Amino acid sequence: MRTAACLNRIAPYLFAQIDAKRDALVEQGVDVISLGIGDPDMPTPDHIVEAMREAVRKSENHQYPDYAGSLAYRTACAQWMESRFGVTLDPKTEVLALIGSKEGIFHLHTAFVDPGDYVLAPSIGYPVYSGGATLMNAQTYYMPMREESGFLADFEHVPDEVLSKAKIMFIGYPNNPTGAVATDEYFDRAIAFCLKHDLLLAHDNAYSEIGFDGYRAPSILERPHAMECCIEFFSLSKAYNMTGWRIGFAAGNAKAVSALGTVKNNLDSGQFTAVQDAAIQALSGSQQCIDDMRAIYERRRDLVVDALCAIGVECKKPKATIYVWAKVPEGYTSESFATKVLEEAHVIVTPGSGYGPDGEGYIRISLTTPDERLLEAAKRIKEIG
Ligand code: MLT
Repeated sequence: MRTAACLNRIAPYLFAQIDAKRDALVEQGVDVISLGIGDPDMPTPDHIVEAMREAVRKSENHQYPDYAGSLAYRTACAQWMESRFGVTLDPKTEVLALIGSKEGIFHLHTAFVDPGDYVLAPSIGYPVYSGGATLMNAQTYYMPMREESGFLADFEHVPDEVLSKAKIMFIGYPNNPTGAVATDEYFDRAIAFCLKHDLLLAHDNAYSEIGFDGYRAPSILERPHAMECCIEFFSLSKAYNMTGWRIGFAAGNAKAVSALGTVKNNLDSGQFTAVQDAAIQALSGSQQCIDDMRAIYERRRDLVVDALCAIGVECKKPKATIYVWAKVPEGYTSESFATKVLEEAHVIVTPGSGYGPDGEGYIRISLTTPDERLLEAAKRIKEIG
């Protein structure tokens, strides 16, 4: 049996590796605190679960779903985009249901990238941007992302020989893992750059709803000319505690949405319509649950940053996302510090290097763990100091 060569070029998924380490320790009876994956510990709000209960009973939902998503779901997505960002979309041509935004981001490569092409990805970013390129036998060019530039990916110095073979440029703000946010001016420059170089601009907006201190993230589709070159990815996972439900959507340029739809209708048969019905309830029902959740994450953010600063770990309070991005102490790499923290404090943190080259020297801490476990984790990290 011979597997595809691209499998030799890709590492196991970052969080699959971390899960394996956690499981091995848990099997030995160790009390592991996981601050690794961003998987909300709070339940999906009741009104969404109730909508699912009803939807599951409907026999019409037991048949194949619509490939692009039910028109009712796509309409709810478009209405949410209008009320949240003032962006007007045609649900039939500019919105596509996804089985989670990870799935859509991966398959965008299938729709746009041929072997040997380039994908421009932030040098610190969601691993699927580059993983999708590798599995399509394409190449990733990492755009530098430095703390002194606010972790805004620098697309202005991409070499011409790369640009001539590039098809997609990925960015994502609020940013996973750094928590950085983008300005309108940055988005406008990115749009102008992609229009000039005939690139699809893929904006990952999975954390749009988790902003702190009054910050509310925009959609890139609000910006002038965005609809000419942008596709934006939204996820219900973090906003509505629905990671396990696998539901999101893509919105934006009709040609890009249609290309992604063609890939998807050839390889999947859509998300269970009952899940889409529950997602309609999430998007169109009361949004109080998001305010409540934001307040919890904001409190946890303060608690973790204060605790880490008190023990000499350098980090700043992010304006958004469910992550704290911290510098590793002198003398460690991301990996060696994450390993020490796991082996000696039994706390899982994600090594920054797992997000790309400029992630070296950092760790990411997820806030998706109850306050007392977060404090216990900080205490354990202090003890191994
Ligand atoms: C994260 O922790 O970065 C994401 O939740 C992981 C994922 O989406 O696979």
